[in-house]
Amino acid sequence: MWPSNVSFTNELSFSGIPASQLAEKFGTPAFIMDEADFRARATKWNSALVSAFGENAGSVYYAAKAFICTEVARWIKDIGIGIDVCTAGELAVALAGGINPSKIEVHGNNKSVAEIEKAVLAGVGTIVIDSLFEIERVASSAVKHGVVQKVLLRLTPGIEAHTHEFIATAHEDVKFGFSIASGAAWTAIAEVRKHASLDLRGFHAHIGSQILDTDSFEISAERLIALLAKFRDAHNAELPELDLGGGYGIAYIPGDVELSPSLAMDALAKAVAKNCAEHNLNVPRISIEPGRAIVGPTMFTLYEVGTVKDIELEAGENRRYISVDGGMSENIRPALYAAEYTAVLANRTSSAAGVSTRLVGKHCETGDIIIRDISLPGDIAPGDLLATPATGAYGRSMASNYNHVPRPPVIAVKDGKARIIVRRETEADLLGLDI
Ligand code: LLP
Repeated sequence: MWPSNVSFTNELSFSGIPASQLAEKFGTPAFIMDEADFRARATKWNSALVSAFGENAGSVYYAAKAFICTEVARWIKDIGIGIDVCTAGELAVALAGGINPSKIEVHGNNKSVAEIEKAVLAGVGTIVIDSLFEIERVASSAVKHGVVQKVLLRLTPGIEAHTHEFIATAHEDVKFGFSIASGAAWTAIAEVRKHASLDLRGFHAHIGSQILDTDSFEISAERLIALLAKFRDAHNAELPELDLGGGYGIAYIPGDVELSPSLAMDALAKAVAKNCAEHNLNVPRISIEPGRAIVGPTMFTLYEVGTVKDIELEAGENRRYISVDGGMSENIRPALYAAEYTAVLANRTSSAAGVSTRLVGKHCETGDIIIRDISLPGDIAPGDLLATPATGAYGRSMASNYNHVPRPPVIAVKDGKARIIVRRETEADLLGLDI
């Protein structure tokens, strides 16, 4: 759950810097990020892909939606992996970070014509097409700019992934992609093939997020490969690429076990080899798009406690509410997906007995809950610091300005030094949008 350079002695310390110093220097709430850990995790996924698939390893495309900023885009460039972007905004950050456009893959179920234009003009490696309209739009943009654009078709293989309904993406009743079962995928293939400005490289599927077993990924591979075989039989040619998406789960609370890169990639490689052999197909280049699994555990959020309140419940029981200086504006996941987190006292140790506590934010809303029920030391008081681990993915990236709360900064720590890579928003930033 924790970044690899976090340790606990008298207080939480990160690469030798005590939490209290981080809070004093950068304020709270703040996302504190482990640069070395990010680099190591990205590299680990890349090595796992390469060692499982050998010469058939495609790219790891880091899913920018989990968290991106210009500095992290520079790290991605250094590490040499690709990036998945799904809006012009994410594309702009990737380009600002100096990532080679050929390593950019563009997603989105409703890319605007302007977004498609920007992507084609930038020379992105691949556009993942999501609708029949988009086939026409990408084709005409490619014609306009005199290029042949590599594309994948996003497919829904009809899988009910074991995860929260809102983050499952590959069953039939979703807005994404073309269904294999209904024949929509087959129609889309025929449509793409009508355009000389489109180079159909293969298929893509993303089955959902925070998936902790490999079964659903294997079934997805099986269904995509069956379609590759059908394509070969119909057109006497093999499509060379499959992108099997992201979704690899991480640990959020004690007891959770993350899906290891090598385990996931080895299982996938086995399934791909078996299914290709059954259809007498060459193994295509396999790419993946982990977001959470790379960035999730590399950050924690540091909060300051503002109030502690004991509420008498029925049956004479108390519930303690500890309020911190953030909440649903920088961690919407508990409210949106009933996501679970844990927290620790970060500025000191305590031997006080644990008290059943609800950790809440500062927003004007009952659902502003970070942790529904956690045992925290009974002596926690205003001014104490709390840290919630594993907030790197979809924390800062889904942060809002609800209640006109400025969004927190991201502080990168490496080799005992901490620096701001995304600064804290200010009230001036918020007022700056008002006419
Ligand atoms: N590829 C595609 C096409 C995706 O749509 C996504 C996530 C990913 C890759 C990366 O998935 P990851 O490896 O990070 O699980 N905001 C939610 C999750 C929804 C993500 C949507 N797409 C959350 O906070 O859990």
